[in-house]
Amino acid sequence: MLELDDLRVHIGGHEIVHIEHLSLEPGSRLGLVGESGSGKTMTAKAVAGLLPDEARVSGSVRFNGRELLAMNDRQMSEVRGRKIGFVFQDPARSLNPMMRVGRQVSEAIRVHSELPRAAVARKVVALLEQVQLPDPPTLMRRYPHQLSGGQQQRVMIAAAIAADPEFLIADEPTTALDVTVQEEILRLLISLSEQRGMGVLFVSHDLGVIRFVCDRVAVIYGGAVVETGRTEDVIAAPRHRYTAALLAANPGMPRDDNFRAFIGQRLHTIPGSVPPVGTFPSGCRFRNRCVAASEACTAMPGVLDAGDGHRYSCWNPVEGL
Ligand SMILES: Nc1ncnc2c1ncn2[C@@H]1O[C@H](COP(=O)(O)OP(=O)(O)O)[C@@H](O)[C@H]1O
Ligand code: SF4
Ligand SMILES: [Mg+2]
Repeated sequence: MLELDDLRVHIGGHEIVHIEHLSLEPGSRLGLVGESGSGKTMTAKAVAGLLPDEARVSGSVRFNGRELLAMNDRQMSEVRGRKIGFVFQDPARSLNPMMRVGRQVSEAIRVHSELPRAAVARKVVALLEQVQLPDPPTLMRRYPHQLSGGQQQRVMIAAAIAADPEFLIADEPTTALDVTVQEEILRLLISLSEQRGMGVLFVSHDLGVIRFVCDRVAVIYGGAVVETGRTEDVIAAPRHRYTAALLAANPGMPRDDNFRAFIGQRLHTIPGSVPPVGTFPSGCRFRNRCVAASEACTAMPGVLDAGDGHRYSCWNPVEGL
């Protein structure tokens, strides 16, 4: 189980992330959703111990009771990979262009185990099969540029799950891919999570993608979680005005799992834009864009509970339907 408490990330004197509390149960898939610039990647990197040097982090990130923020680089890199795997947005930049894909996956295995060479080779083939790449024995001798974007992302996923992690953090893993390939990769992530009982922290700016993949969702704005709960509950009855605005901007989102019906559409954004870091209003950070803002919103709202783990922080919430 992964638990974040009072997690803060500062860069250049500005607080970029402040998450009061967020937890991820083993085997479940939690979506982190918000517009571009809302702090999703910084949150994922804080958990991964991969923040840029200029960032300062405080608070708590516990994994099965162990404090990750207290770990040194060596301890953290052991947790990364062995316990928690990562997949990032741009496979072309994450893979080493000079290294054959089989070797990239085998290194991910070897870093964390003492398996003999032949067993590693067999495991590479098995992993490439699991991520549904064609003809693994041939494919593993190729270089990344000889693969399509979707195939590269599958290689990244194979490397990320090579050491059988309990959790996977996927940051916009399909954003760079076309719709058909996106759907295939998302289905692959869901089935790997189900087969392996692997929890997933899934980051996306796209509520439709989150709804497709995740049983729970946390909506993030200005680096803070403004609403969280079961994905269905939050989408059916959003309480926070930011969540409601995200949904209102995308009225075509269907309520079945017909992926293409909503993924193919261009997602609309909320009027106005996410302010640059350091220029968010005081109190509720959404207040300069919110249609329901009132005097009360100049103070930070507390956390309210709508039941079943559905929580939100808003002074003038959307009333229950
Ligand atoms: N290295 C950095 N230095 C300063 N500010 C940064 C840096 N990286 C990201 N930011 C800022 O932090 C905020 C959150 O960024 P990010 O987590 O990447 O958002 P998201 O992934 O939700 O699009 C943005 O306003 C971004 O401009
Ligand atoms: S707290 Fe106020 S400004 Fe913030 S979302 Fe709710 S109503 Fe809008
Ligand atoms: Mg990002």
